[in-house]
Amino acid sequence: MTAFTEPQIQRDPARGADVSRDDRAHVFHSWSAQGLINPLPIAGASGSHFWDFEGKRYLDFSSQLVNVNIGYQHPRLVAAIQEAAARQCTIAPSFADESRSEAARLIAELAPGGLDKVFFTNGGAEATENAMRMARLHTGRHKVLATYRSYHGATAGSITATGDPRRWANEPGVPGIVHFWGPYPYRSAFHATTEQEECERALQHLRDTIMVEGPSTIAAIILETVVGTNGILVPPDGYLAGVREICDEHGIVWIADEVMAGFGRCGEWFAVDHWGVTPDLICFAKGVNSGYVPLGGVVISQPIAATFEERVFPGGLTYSGHPLACASAVASIGIFKDEGILENVRKVSDTVIAPRLAEIAERHPSVGEARGLGFFWALELVRDPETREPLVPYNASGAAAGPMNEFMAACKADGLWPFVHFNRTHVVPPCTTTAEEMNEGLDILDAALTVADRFVG
Ligand SMILES: Cc1ncc(COP(=O)(O)O)c(C=O)c1O
Repeated sequence: MTAFTEPQIQRDPARGADVSRDDRAHVFHSWSAQGLINPLPIAGASGSHFWDFEGKRYLDFSSQLVNVNIGYQHPRLVAAIQEAAARQCTIAPSFADESRSEAARLIAELAPGGLDKVFFTNGGAEATENAMRMARLHTGRHKVLATYRSYHGATAGSITATGDPRRWANEPGVPGIVHFWGPYPYRSAFHATTEQEECERALQHLRDTIMVEGPSTIAAIILETVVGTNGILVPPDGYLAGVREICDEHGIVWIADEVMAGFGRCGEWFAVDHWGVTPDLICFAKGVNSGYVPLGGVVISQPIAATFEERVFPGGLTYSGHPLACASAVASIGIFKDEGILENVRKVSDTVIAPRLAEIAERHPSVGEARGLGFFWALELVRDPETREPLVPYNASGAAAGPMNEFMAACKADGLWPFVHFNRTHVVPPCTTTAEEMNEGLDILDAALTVADRFVG
């Protein structure tokens, strides 16, 4: 595994104050009421840790926005970007570029058979947006089905496809997007009591939705292969194969959104590999190069690519296939292979995360369920393990989110940066995290859960 540089952490509170002052004066932040936030100024990062200007170091159990799969400042990746910058910083998408060609070839080789072409974007939202565009043009139909428990990005189409509350303030969205319920055994929308029942009923619900919407109007079904931010919802065995069958029956394009689940997060190159199924389009971003340079894209099946052989694809981006971004993807994929990063994810997941989270769930009354795979895990926190009442309500904010905020503060005080969403904490560290670091983080999480336990009963 990687030898990350041992951090030289120096306190520099004055510099931190300058960074904060300029941030507060001039930076307009995502998803925030600007006057109510106080972003932590960051001084540096290495491997699975980052630190602030006070010299406080955090073990990152969030991989930032679940994207730093290769860890911070991977020396080989940094060097590859420096080399690429010296060679060729930029060239328009209309040219054939060495890094772009190689990145596309490598990604196509890793993708399931028959997905041979890559359209590059700058991130995940543009990937889902363009995948929906391709599906509509390919089928000549306009509707897209998406699940309620999902996030697909913040551009017009992708935020309309999103099922979570981030969509609300962006409505009305683009026409033709219909939401349905995906599988979620712990809080089944179908009153299922087993995984198999959940699978069968969720597929029947999808069939019913298609029937009443009109199969001939539906271009695509977009699904996060494993739902990320909205709960780490691992589909029951058979669900994705069922979706494939339904799509084939009706000529509907299956778009797998693997922006979060792909490139190592689930212990596979693509999460669909876990179930051996093949979508028509796969959206990727985040882990493809860990956000060292912005990059995303869509891997395209042969029939959909063929639609645009003689016909113009009406979409594009000035930075589609940016050479620096593509060079970093090439290097990142090489590092994953050479350093056995997928193997690390599988091993540490099986030997540390899975058994320890199961044991933590047994011992803490506030933990309703531990679930996940790879380095993609959630603890669902509850007020009552019997009724499964969430520790805080859906979309809680302010005082209503108090218990989760207290839990989060306890983690941070002990040097762990947790991922928290609604009533859940996710264990989603960099894929390079060692067993020792994972144990250290889980010890802190375990201790912080005593804060959540106080709200039970
Ligand atoms: C599953 C999924 N799709 C799409 C996106 C949007 O990606 P981006 O923020 O790069 O536009 C995200 C971001 O979190 C995501 O998790």
